[in-house]
Amino acid sequence: MIDKNTSRKILLQYQLKSGAFPASPNFKHYGYCWMRDSAFIAYALILAGEQTAAERYFRWVTGVILKYQDKVFKGIIKANQGIKLHPDELLHTRYKLDGEEGTEPWGNFQLDGYGAYLWVLGYYSKHCLNNNALLEDSKWSIQVVVEYIIRFWHTGCLDCWEETQGVHAATLATIYAGLKESSPYMSGIQERHAMLIIDAIKEKLENDYVANDHFIANLSEKKLDASLIWMAVPFEVISLNNRYMKNTVEEIEKQLLSDGGVKRYSHDNYYGGGSWLPLTAWLGWYYVRKGDKKKAKHYLEWVESKAENGELAEQVTDINSEEYVEWRNKWGEIAKPLLWSHAMHFILRHEYEGIENKSV
Ligand code: BGC
Repeated sequence: MIDKNTSRKILLQYQLKSGAFPASPNFKHYGYCWMRDSAFIAYALILAGEQTAAERYFRWVTGVILKYQDKVFKGIIKANQGIKLHPDELLHTRYKLDGEEGTEPWGNFQLDGYGAYLWVLGYYSKHCLNNNALLEDSKWSIQVVVEYIIRFWHTGCLDCWEETQGVHAATLATIYAGLKESSPYMSGIQERHAMLIIDAIKEKLENDYVANDHFIANLSEKKLDASLIWMAVPFEVISLNNRYMKNTVEEIEKQLLSDGGVKRYSHDNYYGGGSWLPLTAWLGWYYVRKGDKKKAKHYLEWVESKAENGELAEQVTDINSEEYVEWRNKWGEIAKPLLWSHAMHFILRHEYEGIENKSV
């Protein structure tokens, strides 16, 4: 079992002085700071009242973006001439802890982390006092990211699992929320442009990303994926009461629950494709927002029951499955602690406590 404070402490303990967070301190392949994972870590820290830690992270990102900003402008110039870009010519999705780009062979072009970054900065700007200096200092880098997203939002990129190429519903959801929440820091022209993109994303998701009466992860495979929950929580491009959203969650619970937790998608084979702790916390978060205390508690308790020595891993694995053994032989034991799992646990616990004693 684990409590909220343990998760908060783990996030703080592994943050580097520079502000960066390794995705997992003990798993060498995750020794990078991911834009995606860190956005939720920063969100959890803001909820925890750890404003200084969140600010250190934001300043670290600002430094990285300033360092690589020319990629955005050069990428736009090339793309506007119709020249095909190599994914490495665009901003990376993860950085080494010293803020340099990595050289690992995984795909780098993923937009969701940048959408999530803008979203959490927007959240920070609304909820943290005395934040003007940080936002003033970050304004240019925010505008660089906005410029990047405005140009490439509809370009196919890797999904949040870094596996599938396409224009993904979850990625669009992060971009929607990111553009919406960061609008006070955009230039006037960017703001107008961004607002139209927001409308286009919403329309596209509502009209095109539906099959078999539920939302689908992307247009090519039309498959179900647990990241579809992000559309409602926290990115709110689709309302909690949307009937396809309700059906999507129903289908996730029908098709993707395994051992009580949520898998990323069916036929996942990464470390045997078990239930992911961050995603199970996400489903609990969805139920908090729906006001369904019973279900929220159920998923919260499931996540908490998976802690070992106060640490949460990335997923719960079947250690006897062939795929697990294959991955373990290749990369070693699964990532634990995974900071993203702790962030999602903190968020769920915090929000659950907020509704626990209310009559909803
Ligand atoms: C996941 C990503 C995640 C990364 C670091 C990958 O295996 O697919 O979503 O950002 O690990 O946690």
